[in-house]
Amino acid sequence: MKVNVLLSPNNVDELYFTSKTTVVIDILRATSVIVQALNNGAKEVIPVGSIDFAMKISVNAHGGQTLLCGERNTKMIDGFDLGNSPQDYTKGLVHRKSIILFTTNGSKAIVKAKYSEKLLVASFNNLSAIAERLIDLGSDVEIVAAGSNGMFCIEDTICSGALIQIMKSLKEDIEITDAGWASLVLNDQFGSDIGKMLRESEHGKILIGNGFEEDLAFCSERDNMPIVPFYKGGEIKLSKKD
Ligand code: MLT
Repeated sequence: MKVNVLLSPNNVDELYFTSKTTVVIDILRATSVIVQALNNGAKEVIPVGSIDFAMKISVNAHGGQTLLCGERNTKMIDGFDLGNSPQDYTKGLVHRKSIILFTTNGSKAIVKAKYSEKLLVASFNNLSAIAERLIDLGSDVEIVAAGSNGMFCIEDTICSGALIQIMKSLKEDIEITDAGWASLVLNDQFGSDIGKMLRESEHGKILIGNGFEEDLAFCSERDNMPIVPFYKGGEIKLSKKD
């Protein structure tokens, strides 16, 4: 079993993912939002690559059952129902709802990886559940660190390293690529205090500056929502073992 980390989704094209088992990570904040929404009973999350497309599909949605969600420059978009703060996705708001989600990096990374044979969504909140599922699946794994506008970002890379570390604790003979190795080293160095690492990251500082410091604490929690979000046919749902 071989595990690679894509340090930016821009390093590959869509067809790269064909037949692969892929995990997308965007800690601040898209994949943390997806995990929270599904854990609180959302029917599905529909990731989209543009605001126009989000608007278009929401027009056809059945009244009241769909929420238009996400961010531009970290802030809620005019006309949307929710921004991109995970703790806003409460049971009261999202239970049984379809969530259409547009975000600057995370939703786009998921859409890009749509040809994967299996496509999972991870954050620190569900990392061990994802590691266990990947070990059960037994195939090679591509971890996509969604990054920031096509560039490397530290928090998604460290989370990728943390995921590999858990996988290695479950199965000794895992082969890793150089990018996987670099992610492991970064996690060894900075992964012991995730909250501190997020506060010192570039994107973390932007979020703090825009009044979203609470989100960082939420996104740094480990394994408090042991679920496996699974993308199929344009929708992310809770996966049962298959
Ligand atoms: C993204 O997809 O880039 C993020 O989720 C941005 C954010 O909301 O902080």
